[in-house]
Amino acid sequence: MVSPDNFQLPEQLSTGAAEVDDLYMFVYWFSVIFTAVIVAVMLYCIVKFRRRPGVKAEPVGHNLVLELVWTFGPVIFIAILFHLGFKVYVHNAVAAENAMEIRVRGRQWLWEFEYPNGTRENNELTIPLNQPVKFILSSDDVIHSFYVPGARWKRDAVPGMYTNISFTPTKLGNMQVFCAEYCGTSHSGMLAMIHVVTPEDFQKHLDSADKAPEGKKPEEWGAELYKKNACNTCHSIDGSKMPGPTWKGLWGKTESLADGSTVVVDENYVKESILKPQAKIAAGFTTAQMPPFTLKDAQIDAIIAYMKTLK
Ligand code: CUA
Repeated sequence: MVSPDNFQLPEQLSTGAAEVDDLYMFVYWFSVIFTAVIVAVMLYCIVKFRRRPGVKAEPVGHNLVLELVWTFGPVIFIAILFHLGFKVYVHNAVAAENAMEIRVRGRQWLWEFEYPNGTRENNELTIPLNQPVKFILSSDDVIHSFYVPGARWKRDAVPGMYTNISFTPTKLGNMQVFCAEYCGTSHSGMLAMIHVVTPEDFQKHLDSADKAPEGKKPEEWGAELYKKNACNTCHSIDGSKMPGPTWKGLWGKTESLADGSTVVVDENYVKESILKPQAKIAAGFTTAQMPPFTLKDAQIDAIIAYMKTLK
């Protein structure tokens, strides 16, 4: 959201965001003032020293004072900018001692979050207000980039190494996450949402992460999980062609596999395909792109209930 005190910039949702914006505005006004001064001097010289009939230009000699000023002036200014930028960077790059560690795994095409207690969620993360959080980023396949505009943070998730970012959320509500590094077909759909809640609600969320929301039928929860776990980035529900088989009419069907055999789409096949997608690959889908999903039985049952409704 644009607010009048930090025009053009998204709403500040973390401790570091204000520091980054202040630095940005400092550089911005610094540049505006210097541009104005340089243009003014230039215009003055254009008019004052323009060619006039009968006036001969005289060569200008060495001027030690001027040369010292335009050499060391900018050096000092740039040293100040570097100092301010480095200070903000270091302050935000180093996680607080009591930071909660969240593992973030990027893969084509979703963000997997793992809480300190081992609970995992895809594309949604819930964190407590005013609690420093350290995000430890990695990638299972290609380079992704974890971008949280509300926290003014963007860092690549690179296969084969860990990178990290940290911030403290300062407002209840949602923080949008984007993937900011082109990573294939569904790059633009690689979105996640961080929910900032009170510490009590955070505890409640952790306790109920693997259970069906109250009052929801299994197939309704399954429809939610289909989106939440980003199944929808590779599997359509209306028969349209996507990187993975469509779910429309999939349940109960006899599926041909890449190795020439067939399998009936039942509970066991669906469960295996979610937990170990490489075990049986459907014919025509030779590049097995699907990553393994760590879902609980209750969640898989809900997805199956949803699949059954897609006739
Ligand atoms: Cu992941 Cu773009």
